[in-house]
Amino acid sequence: MQKPVILTGVRSNADLTLGNLLGAILPLVRLQQKYSQNYQINAFLPDLHSIIGTNDFNDLYERTILTVRTYAAAGLDLKNTNTSIYRQSYVPAHSELAWILDCFIYYGELSRMTQFKEKSENSDSVIVGIFNYPALMAADILLYDASYVPVGEDQRQHLELTRDVAIRMNNQFGDIFTVPKTWAEQMQFNNAGARIRSLKHPEQKMSKSIQDPSGTILLSDNPKDAREKVLASTTDSVGSINYDYINQPGISNLLQIISVIENKPIDDVVSKWRGESSYSKLKQEAADLVEDLLTNFQSSLAGITDQDALSALMAHEQNINQVANAKLKLIQTKVGLRASLND
Ligand code: TYM
Repeated sequence: MQKPVILTGVRSNADLTLGNLLGAILPLVRLQQKYSQNYQINAFLPDLHSIIGTNDFNDLYERTILTVRTYAAAGLDLKNTNTSIYRQSYVPAHSELAWILDCFIYYGELSRMTQFKEKSENSDSVIVGIFNYPALMAADILLYDASYVPVGEDQRQHLELTRDVAIRMNNQFGDIFTVPKTWAEQMQFNNAGARIRSLKHPEQKMSKSIQDPSGTILLSDNPKDAREKVLASTTDSVGSINYDYINQPGISNLLQIISVIENKPIDDVVSKWRGESSYSKLKQEAADLVEDLLTNFQSSLAGITDQDALSALMAHEQNINQVANAKLKLIQTKVGLRASLND
């Protein structure tokens, strides 16, 4: 029987941030350490997503290779036999399945996606890729029957759309897809789903696509500069430490950062700081953790070469194409494009 699949992907079209590391990469590394005996883990590079709405074509290829090195530097064992790392564009079945899913997803569903609404507001030049990419993301997940998809909270709606289309097609064609677990089940399993906010504007997410240098920590930042950004982060005038994103988003963000780096449940971190009124102590602790994390990460990264990354990709992509093509064939047969699995 096939092992349950854990799958996630990180785009490479801009410098990766602390948000990517804490929201997706570190949770995946920890899942590998904990579960790789009993689960198949797919860490893929969504390079077709990276060309959506970017002009950064010249260095995308190198950035993709850098993302593989980033996974390895964060602790992912690229040689683990239950882990696959691969580029989306090297597995054509992703795009083919995305088209089939497009024929089962409604225009209204894609129009309601928050990311699409935000990116298309006040713009008269919205490319179709921005509208359509949740279908490709659903294909990335359903092609491998993934149950667990550790992502940051900003991707929750896309995961829910993936569930909806899987359930819809299962109802029509029999159980052709594994339906990914609900958001609540995902949270229980992997303690991921973080929402790391801008250190300057904690009401918005830390993001590579927003020009916010003092609020954003890049993985390439000097660790001392990153430390300063944490120490200078925006807080509030409440005067006590509470986990409350509405009234104290800056403080809540620091608690969240500590919780993910220390790999402790948020409730434990919150209890430790309850009753404490010194914001500067909290900032110091978060700053120490971020500085250490980046220092260790960057020194590991320096020891992993592009060749290491390429060798890992080439070893995995051949196998993964076989898995993906077998699944695609099944779907093609169900929707009437092939007479049988042998066709
Ligand atoms: P992307 O490339 O924008 O982000 C990659 C991962 O990093 C997480 N993330 C964050 N988490 C917490 N706080 C933040 N500030 C933060 N910023 C980014 C994201 O939630 C994500 O988990 N569409 C996806 C990539 C993708 C994918 C997939 C993911 C394509 N196909 C299939 C999982 C499964 C994206 O644009 O993520």
